[in-house]
Amino acid sequence: MATRVVRFGVIGCGLMGREFASAAARWHHLVGLDFRPQIVAACDPEPAALKWFEEAVPGVRVASDWRRVLDDREVEAVYVAIPHHLHREVYVAAIDAGKHLLGEKPFGIDAAANAEILARAAAKPDVLVRCSSEFPFFPGMQRIVRAIREKRFGRILDVRSGLLHSSDLDPDKPINWKRVVATNGESGCMGDLGMHALHVPLRAGWFPADLRAVLTKIVTTRPDRSGSRVPCETWDNAVLACRVGRAQSDEFPMIVETKRISPGDVNTLYLEIAGTDLSMRFTTRRPRTIESLPYRRGEPQAWHVADLGYASAYPAITGAIFEFGFPDAILQMWAAFCDELVHGAAGMRQPFTCATPDETRQCHAIFAAALESQKTGATVKTGIW
Ligand SMILES: NC(=O)c1ccc[n+]([C@@H]2O[C@H](COP(=O)([O-])OP(=O)(O)OC[C@H]3O[C@@H](n4cnc5c(N)ncnc54)[C@H](O)[C@@H]3O)[C@@H](O)[C@H]2O)c1
Repeated sequence: MATRVVRFGVIGCGLMGREFASAAARWHHLVGLDFRPQIVAACDPEPAALKWFEEAVPGVRVASDWRRVLDDREVEAVYVAIPHHLHREVYVAAIDAGKHLLGEKPFGIDAAANAEILARAAAKPDVLVRCSSEFPFFPGMQRIVRAIREKRFGRILDVRSGLLHSSDLDPDKPINWKRVVATNGESGCMGDLGMHALHVPLRAGWFPADLRAVLTKIVTTRPDRSGSRVPCETWDNAVLACRVGRAQSDEFPMIVETKRISPGDVNTLYLEIAGTDLSMRFTTRRPRTIESLPYRRGEPQAWHVADLGYASAYPAITGAIFEFGFPDAILQMWAAFCDELVHGAAGMRQPFTCATPDETRQCHAIFAAALESQKTGATVKTGIW
């Protein structure tokens, strides 16, 4: 089988840039694919970040200016993982340069930046533009996605979804760009974590018509590099009570939580769906397990607990009895992006594509409504349709 090599440039060699380098390096973990990524160029203004890449990715061309990556004729696609205030300029330039783009969320620091990126993507239909979101590739989430596709839930009663972190509980955790409005965005924890909580509900078509948000700032100052305390401006926690659906006959409540300060939670994703025919719930706290409750009149209402193991969307060398984890979800997401790039959405090995530009627009509409709701105390329409 001939292997199609997709040559990538990485813009932003921090936490997530390194995750992609690691995924590309262990591509042989996946079996039976006729494509693979190769990182040929990388860019970051921080010399230490570039040094890591030079050591980890043999032969990579490095630069401190992202324009060098976009000018590189060998680069066919880029992965961009940089602070949010830079998304608009770099994503637009990448699309204009004709590079396929997997960009990190929130895909623009705010709704206006997001709209500009999407307008450029619409003008270049031959360029594949997708947003990073790896959690739907956990096997338990894939089971939920399949049940949604097969319409097995009956009438949806309610949905709860969230992404929860806890390390900001430490008031002396040093400040970084993610705690500053100018670099992270006014949406704070929602822009940072919201795509993870919303991706599968939005893919299901569960669009909030309106919402009431309660946003909280808990730690208001943090130490900088010199140890002096500086303002920590961004929202720490967000709870959104959403009304999903257009007509009373099909509407239901959806609670979306994105929290930086949730004691004990370490990147905990959860999704719980209650329906008249089937209920399902998954959390990365128990990454191998899916719970489901099929309802049959007259029969006991009992939760079924199944350990799925490594039942990945793209087959891998890992035995089915072993666990699946975060780096595996990243690897699967990369396979989906490359698969769609090489074969088109209709020709993919499995049907779940990475998050679309329109899904990033829907997220921003929800974040903007939540900010307005927090300000006014009112229920706010999202205008998502
Ligand atoms: N998908 C996920 O699970 C996930 C997790 C964390 C972060 N993210 C997203 O990834 C992106 C980056 O976050 P991170 O955690 O990797 O941050 P990070 O701070 O670890 O890395 C960002 C990198 O961008 C570099 N950078 C800054 N300005 C640059 C420029 N002009 N050109 C090129 N590089 C530049 C920085 O030097 C740094 O190395 C954000 O959009 C964030 O929301 C996604």
